[in-house]
Amino acid sequence: MSQPSEVHPAWLPPSAFRALGSRRIRIDGQGPPADTVRSEVTRACAHFGGRICAPGEEADLVLAVAPSSEAGSEGFHLSRQDGSTVVLADGPAGLLHGLFEVVRRGEAAFGPGLTGRRHEPAFALRVLDHWDNVDVHPVMGQVERGYSGGSILWQDGRLRDDPARIREYARLVAAAGINAVTVNNVNVHTAETHLLTDRLAEVAALAGAFRPYGIRVHLSVNFAAPVILGDLDTADPLDPAVRSWWAHTTEKVFAIAPDFGGYLVKADSEGQPGPFTYGRTHADGANMLAAALAPHGAIVRWRAFVYNHRQDWRDRSTDRARAACDHFAPLDGEFHDNVILQVKYGPMDFQTREPVSPVLFAMPSTRLAVELQATQEYTGQQRHVCYLPPMWSGVLGFHPYGEPGPAVADVAASGGALVAVSNVGDDPFWTGHPLAQANLYAVGRLAWTPTLDPAAVLDECIALTFPGAGEPLREILHELMDDSWQTYEQYTAPLGVGFMVRPGRHYGPDVDGYEYTPWGTYHFADRDGVGVDRTAATGTGFAAQYPRPWSEVYESRATCPDELLLFFHHVPYDHVLHSGTTVIQHIYDTHFAGAERVAGMRDRWRDAVALVDPAVHARVADRLDEQLRSAEEWRDQINTYFFRKSGIPDAKGRTIH
Ligand code: GCU
Repeated sequence: MSQPSEVHPAWLPPSAFRALGSRRIRIDGQGPPADTVRSEVTRACAHFGGRICAPGEEADLVLAVAPSSEAGSEGFHLSRQDGSTVVLADGPAGLLHGLFEVVRRGEAAFGPGLTGRRHEPAFALRVLDHWDNVDVHPVMGQVERGYSGGSILWQDGRLRDDPARIREYARLVAAAGINAVTVNNVNVHTAETHLLTDRLAEVAALAGAFRPYGIRVHLSVNFAAPVILGDLDTADPLDPAVRSWWAHTTEKVFAIAPDFGGYLVKADSEGQPGPFTYGRTHADGANMLAAALAPHGAIVRWRAFVYNHRQDWRDRSTDRARAACDHFAPLDGEFHDNVILQVKYGPMDFQTREPVSPVLFAMPSTRLAVELQATQEYTGQQRHVCYLPPMWSGVLGFHPYGEPGPAVADVAASGGALVAVSNVGDDPFWTGHPLAQANLYAVGRLAWTPTLDPAAVLDECIALTFPGAGEPLREILHELMDDSWQTYEQYTAPLGVGFMVRPGRHYGPDVDGYEYTPWGTYHFADRDGVGVDRTAATGTGFAAQYPRPWSEVYESRATCPDELLLFFHHVPYDHVLHSGTTVIQHIYDTHFAGAERVAGMRDRWRDAVALVDPAVHARVADRLDEQLRSAEEWRDQINTYFFRKSGIPDAKGRTIH
């Protein structure tokens, strides 16, 4: 078992509290988050000589809950009043978020330049989903798609005996803005199915560990639980016995964990059970669970990642990209008020570049969650630097009906949620790659304020992680991270075509690895061209799932953005992109450039040797060596593959094997 002392601090080391910890602070508020604020402030003052003031005493910082407070409310007003900085919170949870806002601002929170204003989260629900298994899965391990060691929650088939680490995790993510955590994998295996009933005490223990930081615990449940647990012989959502099983089971959950957040369900997808077995719809399934949760004020998140992975590569008319919209759009308006449909950001599966999922704007009468993937399954598995907020901001800021008009964040934030699959494990650096911590931090910040600039979020994260590090380190980190997603895109699958990864593991190149499988992940490269025809005119019709203007923009090669060209069109290698270069030359150029940029990143990191903890430096340096090896492998395999297919040489005469 790893001891907290072995763990390397992420953001919020004691020195991040310097400005606050040297001052006089008054706290007016009750309840668990207020107690947490008190203990944070006490700890900071012990380091820096400040003190907690008595009620009514004059203070440099006042943290108070408004008299007309609402229990669940998280907003607060931050301002300067008569020489003091004042956080006036709507409720105890707002007090905690207000405290962390003051910490983020450092000295500036106490200067006359502070502009008074209200702060409130755009998304009421801001969730990290852990794909952690209780039992080590024979294929997927302790954490499915986890690249940071074991689980911080579970170990050897039971709850991990490391409450200090869980508490520290709760603290970190709460400070970033998170308010919910799902404690087990969406693929719910047998041991995990029992968490709902006879192993509820473990869930309650987790709820207790997260509670002080205002974080509610959610559980992934197995749709077939009534059958698997041996109580009934059906899980039919319209069967009265099944409905009452869920109602009673849910009552017991709330009896032991009154602030339990809700259920998450992956149904009828990739082998998970669901309502289709009984000839019922997703709405029937979700509404049954919603009815069980409603009396307790809780929600069910029902995933839209649903498809039948029995596609035939010979049949070009079927298309996995269409599946979610085909299944769910007709059900718009049928889901109960406490159902949130959780939609992956793209129509395929967390690829480096995908168009925004059309489900997000096909269901105006349904509450929606946007699902991101902080764990870097397809984006370098935390061996590669890949700062994802530029991608995420692009999704949240996408205007489905063109501009002006609402952005995805506006559509989803009303009643919905922002969710990310967590990238945390029991690794001493939390996220395997120390620089991947910034992705975790950014999930909370973008869920709170989706319009934040990714570079500014990185600045915050740097300041909170390396307080006092100064300009040279800041510059190096921005150089390495700001464009790292685009760099990763350059040396991997080109122009939005996706996949081309090693099957199963999803790391490293394997251009034809998925080409003849039933997973629907094809690129259709031949001697003349590459890409998937998803147009309405001649292809699968996926482009027509978008509202205008995007259905028209994507339908035509002339208007489709370069970066998504091969997602929507099958084009000849000599097709000229908007950038002025041909598809084949673009492939060569970006693959050489991407690998070169990684070599530059590796060299640049050497300049940070005296600026960060040697252990952090060494871990990042190791990972950059691997990133360069892998980028060169990608470059050579992709370039060689397309040279062999097309027979067209590189116009610049570089080495292609
Ligand atoms: C991906 C991933 C799976 C995961 C699935 C999901 O396909 O490879 O491991 O179960 O997404 O989101 O449910």
